[in-house]
Amino acid sequence: MKKLCLLGLAIGLASHSVLADTQPAPLQSKDAFVSNLLKQMTLDEKIGQLRLISIGPEMPRELIRKEIAAGNIGGTFNSITRPENRPMQDAAMRSRLKIPMFFAYDVIHGHRTIFPIPLALASSWDMDAIGLSGRVAAKEAAADSLDLTFAPMVDISRDPRWGRTSEGFGEDTYLVSRIAKVMVKAYQGSGLIGADNIMASVKHFALYGAVEGGRDYNTVDMSPVKMYQDYLPPYRAAIDAGAGGVMVALNSINGIPATANLWLMQDLLRKEWGFKGLAVSDHGAIFELIKHGVARDGREAAKLAIKAGIDMSMNDTLYGKELPGLLKSGEIQQSDIDNAVREVLGAKFDMGLFRDPYLRIGKAENDPADPYAEDRLHRAEARDVARRSLVLLENKNQTLPLSKSAKIVLVGPLAKAPIDMMGSWAAAGKPAQSVSLFDGMTRALGDQAKLTYARGANITSDKNVVGYLNFLNFDAPEVVDDPRSAQVMIDEAVKAAQQADVVVAAVGESRGMSHESSSRTDLNIPSSQRDLINALKATGKPLVLVLMNGRPLTISHEKEQADAILETWFSGTEGGNAISDVLFGDYNPSGKLPISFPRSVGQIPTYYNHLSIGRPFTPGKPGNYTSQYFDETTGPLYPFGYGLSYTDFSLSDMALSSTTLNKTGKIDASVTVKNTGKRDGETVVQLYIQDVTGSMIRPIKELKNFQKIMLKAGEQHVVHFTIDEDDLKFYNTQLKYAAEPGKFNVQIGLDSENVTQQSFELL
Ligand code: BGC
Repeated sequence: MKKLCLLGLAIGLASHSVLADTQPAPLQSKDAFVSNLLKQMTLDEKIGQLRLISIGPEMPRELIRKEIAAGNIGGTFNSITRPENRPMQDAAMRSRLKIPMFFAYDVIHGHRTIFPIPLALASSWDMDAIGLSGRVAAKEAAADSLDLTFAPMVDISRDPRWGRTSEGFGEDTYLVSRIAKVMVKAYQGSGLIGADNIMASVKHFALYGAVEGGRDYNTVDMSPVKMYQDYLPPYRAAIDAGAGGVMVALNSINGIPATANLWLMQDLLRKEWGFKGLAVSDHGAIFELIKHGVARDGREAAKLAIKAGIDMSMNDTLYGKELPGLLKSGEIQQSDIDNAVREVLGAKFDMGLFRDPYLRIGKAENDPADPYAEDRLHRAEARDVARRSLVLLENKNQTLPLSKSAKIVLVGPLAKAPIDMMGSWAAAGKPAQSVSLFDGMTRALGDQAKLTYARGANITSDKNVVGYLNFLNFDAPEVVDDPRSAQVMIDEAVKAAQQADVVVAAVGESRGMSHESSSRTDLNIPSSQRDLINALKATGKPLVLVLMNGRPLTISHEKEQADAILETWFSGTEGGNAISDVLFGDYNPSGKLPISFPRSVGQIPTYYNHLSIGRPFTPGKPGNYTSQYFDETTGPLYPFGYGLSYTDFSLSDMALSSTTLNKTGKIDASVTVKNTGKRDGETVVQLYIQDVTGSMIRPIKELKNFQKIMLKAGEQHVVHFTIDEDDLKFYNTQLKYAAEPGKFNVQIGLDSENVTQQSFELL
């Protein structure tokens, strides 16, 4: 309170006498406040606000504080505790205008409690669960003095070679847009930014998931229709939900890097979408304009970026170095700088920092004695969300659930892998607090435990890959090899398998294999692990594969070999417990794939909602002169929306309330869903629509709605969906968003392939 009054005086505001601690009651509107402050800032102070720096352990804290006190830094990221951030905020309060700092971090899927990776969250198709994960993350991050997260990451990814597929919510525009909205609301809370809420900055704007060949940082070339139709809506959804920030992508778009892209940043983001928040560059992206070959030198790079509307520069020094000279020479205008500063100050205003710079830092006496304290975690929430995100891909002869009295052997390099369990971008998650599969199963079995363990294989036998992955982590090796020979490890596992009733193999990728800068040309399970699976298969024992991976893998062979396959992605702090809940039937799996599984890398992209083509392949007919690969079965191995349960569901009596729809009318599409099995369970009823004939080619189907429902054994329920003209709109060649009269097929299914269909006409 006292600090705020001082701040008010220092920046010459009319009166700051009545500021409640909890109420966001600014005495002036945001615009007036920011304009007022802007008027009092020197050029150096303005440029200082545009600087966002990463705080590494090696950095000289004293120097940073000096810089802050001199007004040379606007915000930091990667400093994540109150005792770390308080002295920096103190330094800001010693600066001439006492403009508060903000503190940011990549809180992607949890902060201290790590939730499943985003691709796994999307597999739950459960908006409440996803929202809960974001809410908990925000609370934990805010309690650690963080004001802003570089999330959600809503890049549509249709090429699983891209390592960051793990970090997004899959291939589908509708599903990802729904999640984008939920995540922004979860981080930011309802209404004004409070002490428990953090600002969301949606990323990576734009189209980062469409890098050519799935190779990270690569070029993106895309038609405007495809952008508008498929790739841009999730960013828009996040912005419409109120995201305070946008992180600009590292890639280029049709020849212009996003960081220098006037069309993207000005015409689309600011003018067309009306975005009024903070645009932050990605790491070092302004400097990279030189490498991209659109800027001769740092001076030109800074000019292009500020002109495009990159408000804050993440971890490069070009704005500081070059903006004064550019202004002096008239190459940029004062308004270019002021506009950027305005957004930074506006974001700080929205974060509540002008009311209380210590809003999330709190008082020193309330600092947690141990930031990693167990009681700061939200284990129950993490476990529940994690089990909702697991996808049962195979379950031959009801191999799962396992009996707790069975003799089980657990094998595989991911069985005792707490680091991997957290997935990449694990924020402040601590490996020692994450539950491995071995620990989870041991706990679930309790006294009955007849569980043995053998490692069986290393993640990979490729030493170059191990070296590459270990470079990613500065604290500890990510991938620790067992020095024994592959054969010795396999022999040990086979011996254990021979004495067991059932084999559970935890196989897949180490978490670093699905990360930034972790593109792969080969999506097989690494050969060291495939050798293990082959040897286990040869024992004749029932084989359950527990997959851990951050992207679809090519598992055609394993599909044949395994009796059951559970896709667990990287399921977070409580992963081991959640997976055990499913393996032993304490929870009936209900996840559905948010991305198609290709049969082979050559088949990519395999997304379900591709455009209609002139010579489609028809299953069961000769393939000659149709669109297919003659050396591969057509279609994905597992389609979008697919996932099994321990019970069975049937769909019947699909009906449309009308065979025609007026522009202002509605159609009710209904279907009876019955749980025909013996267990209670949840499933996701999915509604797809196909625009049969249009002024341009339309996709073969598009997800337009879904409902996740719980049915008791034997129970049935009629699910209703409302369809109106909005569901039928698309961007035409003129980029006009409108529905066209004609025939529409409505399909309802429990995945994107097996559907029942009815049609109607839009009049
Ligand atoms: C990533 C961003 C991330 C940033 C800060 C970059 O390398 O591309 O997604 O937010 O680093 O950690």
